[in-house]
Amino acid sequence: MQRKWWKEAVVYQVYPRSFMDSNGDGIGDLNGVTSRLDYLAELGVDVLWLSPIYRSPNDDFGYDVSDYQAIMDEFGTLQDFDLLLQEVHARGMKLVLDLVVNHTSDEHPWFVESRKSKDSPYRDYYIWRPGRDGREPNNWRSVFTRSAWELDADTGEYFLHLFSKRQPDLNWHNQEVRERIYEMMTWWLDKGIDGFRMDVINAIAKADGLPDAPQADADGYGWGGVHFLNLPKTHDYLQEMNKRVLSKYDIMTVGETGGVTTADARLFAGADRHELNMVFQFEHVDLLDSGPGGKWDVKPWSLEDMKTIMSRWQNDLYDVAWNSLFLNNHDQPRALSRFGDDGPYRVPAAKMLATFLHLLQGTPFIYQGEEIGMTNVRFAHIDDYRDVEILNLWQERVIEGGEDQELWMQRIYAKGRDNARTPMQWSNSDNAGFTTGTPWIAVNPNYKEINVEAERSELDSIYHYYRKLIRLRKEHPVVVYGKYDLVLSLHKQIYAYTRTLDDVCWLVVNNFFAQPAEFMLPEVLHDRVDGAQLMLANYSVDGAESVRQFTLRPYECRVYSL
Ligand code: GLC
Ligand code: CA
Repeated sequence: MQRKWWKEAVVYQVYPRSFMDSNGDGIGDLNGVTSRLDYLAELGVDVLWLSPIYRSPNDDFGYDVSDYQAIMDEFGTLQDFDLLLQEVHARGMKLVLDLVVNHTSDEHPWFVESRKSKDSPYRDYYIWRPGRDGREPNNWRSVFTRSAWELDADTGEYFLHLFSKRQPDLNWHNQEVRERIYEMMTWWLDKGIDGFRMDVINAIAKADGLPDAPQADADGYGWGGVHFLNLPKTHDYLQEMNKRVLSKYDIMTVGETGGVTTADARLFAGADRHELNMVFQFEHVDLLDSGPGGKWDVKPWSLEDMKTIMSRWQNDLYDVAWNSLFLNNHDQPRALSRFGDDGPYRVPAAKMLATFLHLLQGTPFIYQGEEIGMTNVRFAHIDDYRDVEILNLWQERVIEGGEDQELWMQRIYAKGRDNARTPMQWSNSDNAGFTTGTPWIAVNPNYKEINVEAERSELDSIYHYYRKLIRLRKEHPVVVYGKYDLVLSLHKQIYAYTRTLDDVCWLVVNNFFAQPAEFMLPEVLHDRVDGAQLMLANYSVDGAESVRQFTLRPYECRVYSL
């Protein structure tokens, strides 16, 4: 398998708005990030990915860009950015930016011009259509509101927005649009950034004729994904982008591609495809604990499904493409609350989840606060929430739809994106040390116990465990390149697998539950037990204990070299 720096790297995602505020206005900013680089270097991560930092009216907190070549006012200036980049590089780390080009903000000058008249030279930069029988041009549902179309009174036509109505979709079929985007990307890469995480990049091409979604719900709208996700044209555009821009630099690219199968991923990230290095797949976070009604139809997850999904990704991409590995990001509730335990077993559960994830094959992504075991939050009032997805939903379902408030609060507690967006917990001082002002979103009240200062001073902490885990990856190629094989596939509580590279074989054993679990080494591995060595564990292990059989304590994990 070909060696690449981005396969060997560990990435750390920063959501700048919530990371560190340097000037007391309650909003995290670039100088705040710069001030914490020593902390990230000490953690040992190689690459920082910053969620969008571009100028934005913040309808979707930066995922609505009004100027791709300026910094969001609240975050600082281009000089601040240059300093940040320089300081990242000075510490031997790399910097990856978010690229949000499926859509812009409605305040982007292109859209401002586009909506002025049907003959504007920018009209075709976006997707405009006349209505159909006095309604929207088709029945597509947006991710954040009902219809994916908004009527613009001035010209009497509708524009497409797969996300909020303040995020109009760009028309990628227009070559001029693509050229402008490639120019902008080149400008950033020439500044010296080290890659892009590409927002909803598998949605940029839309099917000819924009056909209706196959099925509509009671309100008349339906999920039109088959007509805009993973279309063949998307691959043409990415190959063009690769040829024109990406291939000229030694960078890392990761596409955010909700709804991809492993077959799609082999196309996006296949080593011989000249598109992207890897993609984020979402089966383990979108499907595992969602019922037929989708994200908000919350159901319990099962370890069996987790094994099936993760093993499929490990096996299907092996030697063909490359996996990204994540359990958290700025759109997901905290994995520790979701798949682990945020009560009495918070510490072992956080370490176990980290071990499970980082020892799979792929490039691991840590989301800010994960390394100190941050958890979900439960704000008492809807007014405490800030996310456009949550607020639109509340308006639609509770205020207009009259659905039960308590039910929706429970759903928001389980799945809301603001779970991930409460400020980073630096210390036990006011506002968790995130700001000297009033934070834009309240801190999680548990910051008195859960914070960086406490984690750094405690040798046995989650933070120091992450440091060990990252170091292990640097020291043992089997962690990066070893082949994955599931073992004990039917065990109800244990997720165990091996990683094999030449004659090195590692065994990773994770108890995903609070109940103790019996581990029995499978027959096929018996001839390897002599000289088995414990490489990592989240409890202390009696050296005399045999690897053939042992009892795992709540959320216990062990990694053996066999
Ligand atoms: C991606 C981002 C999410 C954003 C959406 C629209 O899914 O991760 O935060 O709301 O795209 O840009
Ligand atoms: Ca600030």
